[in-house]
Amino acid sequence: MDPKRSDWIIRLIETPEEMRLVEGLQRLVWPGSETDVVPSHLLLTAAHNGGLVLGAFAGAELVGFVFGFPGFYETPDGPRLKHCSHMLGVHPDWRNRGLGFALKRAQWQLVRHQGIDRITWTYDPLLSRNAHLNIARLGAVCNTYRRSEYGEMRDGLNAGLPSDRFQVDWWVNSRRVERRLSRRARPALTLDQYLAARPSLLEARPDSTGSLHPTDEPPRPEGVILLVEIPSNFEAIRRSDLALARDWRFYTREVFERAFAAGYLVTDFVYDQGRSFYVLAHGESTL
Ligand SMILES: CC(C)(COP(=O)(O)OP(=O)(O)OC[C@H]1O[C@@H](n2cnc3c(N)ncnc32)[C@H](O)[C@@H]1OP(=O)(O)O)[C@@H](O)C(=O)NCCC(=O)NCCS
Repeated sequence: MDPKRSDWIIRLIETPEEMRLVEGLQRLVWPGSETDVVPSHLLLTAAHNGGLVLGAFAGAELVGFVFGFPGFYETPDGPRLKHCSHMLGVHPDWRNRGLGFALKRAQWQLVRHQGIDRITWTYDPLLSRNAHLNIARLGAVCNTYRRSEYGEMRDGLNAGLPSDRFQVDWWVNSRRVERRLSRRARPALTLDQYLAARPSLLEARPDSTGSLHPTDEPPRPEGVILLVEIPSNFEAIRRSDLALARDWRFYTREVFERAFAAGYLVTDFVYDQGRSFYVLAHGESTL
């Protein structure tokens, strides 16, 4: 086990001084656009009105945070309360040690305590690490694709590409989520196990340099289980080949919009043997 793994504690952030640390960490995680930083006065107002700002501290240093606030969603019986999780960020030197998972787990506990049963947030569906965390580890599901959700973004992680997002649903009282967050979480299914179920498979195409390209024409989604491959290193592709990154954006937009319209739901994500696949199940057979 990484000896640093337990070198941090997670707690609520409620003071103006500590909210300034959250501003500072945002600048580090999403560099380059000062106007996109959520300011401390807004974080404080949210925190004083049912919002949650949770920080992970290593000594006095803030090394991760998650921020969200209450909102509503529509149901046939009228509006219902949910928690909108807006930002999750971990200091680059502290990633891949379970901090993102631990922050979300703490958020899950507090939101349940507020009597709310649904948390939603958005993320870029081409980011394999985020997909692994959100879908595979946390048990969120998705059947909502949002085109250019935030318009033209200016920060260093997002500039140059349409800001398409998955909006995920985290049903915090569901058995799916409880199982995945339990200390004895279910072992992840491997790529071979999924392939043994003979799913429909949308594989990427490697070129002579090993770079992954989307297939030319996405086929119509079919079958009970659909596996959709994405690159495991999209951030690097975006930095080195913006045209290829855009191809991936428009290809996956078409694949997921079609699949969601046809009743599929993203239920799992497999990151195995260096490859990354979304697992979609036909809604009628899983809901
Ligand atoms: C997304 C983010 C919060 C994750 O934080 P973190 O502390 O590294 O998260 P964790 O360590 O709990 O989980 C990361 C998981 O991704 C896995 N992973 C790493 N690289 C991966 C890849 N290329 N593909 C798939 N999974 C990957 C890690 O192995 C780990 O999984 P494990 O716990 O099963 O081993 C962090 O990377 C970050 O701040 N990113 C920039 C901002 C951002 O994208 N925020 C979220 C949207 S608002």
